[in-house]
Amino acid sequence: MGYNVAIDGPAGAGKSTIAKLVAEKKGYIYVDTGAMYRGLAIHFLDRGIKAEETDKVIEACKDAEVQICYENGTQQVYLNGVNITGRLRDEAVGRMTSQCSVIPRVREKLLDLQREIARTQDVIMDGRDIGTCVLPNADVKIYLTASVETRARRRFDELTAKGESCDFDEIARDIKERDARDMNRETAPLKKAEDAVLVDSSDMTIEEVVQRISQLCR
Ligand code: DC
Repeated sequence: MGYNVAIDGPAGAGKSTIAKLVAEKKGYIYVDTGAMYRGLAIHFLDRGIKAEETDKVIEACKDAEVQICYENGTQQVYLNGVNITGRLRDEAVGRMTSQCSVIPRVREKLLDLQREIARTQDVIMDGRDIGTCVLPNADVKIYLTASVETRARRRFDELTAKGESCDFDEIARDIKERDARDMNRETAPLKKAEDAVLVDSSDMTIEEVVQRISQLCR
């Protein structure tokens, strides 16, 4: 049985940055489950399916095979044998992912894959429902959050640094919308597991958050 650390929280809380650093420090494998959902969303988008066309999404799940592997320690996502890692962070993909991940069939499709990875390996797995649903017996559970303002600022700075033009208010609106969808869906909504440790990173540096979480882990 692997040693399992679950890290859940809303979009932009810094889960992936923190989880990657903790993984490096502790020798765990970092598993980004959002990337798996994004992989499925790309499958739907490439077929011209809209998020509200639930029947088509369910049908298209049948011939989508998502696989992950690690190259130089970095998670790569394959969709039906094609490496689609470079497309995962597109804004359109993020939006589609949040909309499609409310569909139970979509979640079911990825659940076994996530559990199987954690069964045999020491992992830090990030997502929305890891502590509550995917790995309810995880050794450590973290709920990492930050204010909407902080999360929007981080996203704004990230896009601006890449030379992309963006609007702060629009980013904040998008984050609020995504929170509402992730937290209010019927299947596996985003919420803090009862036994998760709450970490609010709004006024913390990356190093402080890594330190805090590392202290809780073996
Ligand atoms: O973590 P992320 O931003 O890559 O996730 C993209 C979307 O995927 C997010 O809006 C909700 C969904 N997601 C989910 O429902 N369950 C997970 N375990 C991970 C992501």
